[in-house]
Amino acid sequence: LFTTISTIATALPLLLRGALVTLQLTALSVILGLVGGSLLGIVRLSKILPVRWAARAYIDFFRGTPLLVQIFMIYFGIPAIAQELGLGFSFNRWTAAVIALSLNSAAYIAEIVRAGIQSIELGQSEAAESLGLSSTQTMRYIIFPQAFRRMLPPLGNEFISMLKDTSLVAVIGFEELFRNGQLIVAGNYRSFEIYAAVAVIYLCLTLLSSQAFSRLENWFNPVSRN
Ligand code: ARG
Repeated sequence: LFTTISTIATALPLLLRGALVTLQLTALSVILGLVGGSLLGIVRLSKILPVRWAARAYIDFFRGTPLLVQIFMIYFGIPAIAQELGLGFSFNRWTAAVIALSLNSAAYIAEIVRAGIQSIELGQSEAAESLGLSSTQTMRYIIFPQAFRRMLPPLGNEFISMLKDTSLVAVIGFEELFRNGQLIVAGNYRSFEIYAAVAVIYLCLTLLSSQAFSRLENWFNPVSRN
């Protein structure tokens, strides 16, 4: 028991630093995903067919292929093809990880945004039109504020999924929480204690995030407190 405790205590500072990196990576990717995803989600509902199809293809690709493969395509594939084209460059791990995770998250968020907008009854835009609001005004003042409340719970789920899925960038050697755990195990061979500690830290992060999102939902939707 003493070895277990001292193993974990020794590893803890590095693991917690990894947890901080995981949180930063998640937050940055979800924020960028939110920007890209909102645009995509709106474009996905556009009346211009080629634009709508392009958004659809993007979303299908990023949701329909494994994130792990996307990470490899970006970190190894893009620099390789760039080199063949005579543009020698490579990504550092941060850039590749943020790009892969944001592109992926944008596809998921696009569907959340689209579903949120489509969930608002047609009568709402008809009423807005009958009041003489333009379509931009209708979106801005009538549809979006209502849709946003409905998007919050799935956005919270997306944040939590990403928090866990950032562990996939360990495969490109990105030192976040899980990768730091692997590196510690490589040095002390205490796989059980270390991976259990990693799991517990992830659990704390997901539970805390889920708490934070519940509060956010209540804040934006004070009527139905539960
Ligand atoms: N397991 C899924 C995959 O590999 C994770 C993707 C989830 N991404 C997200 N943005 N929620 O494809």
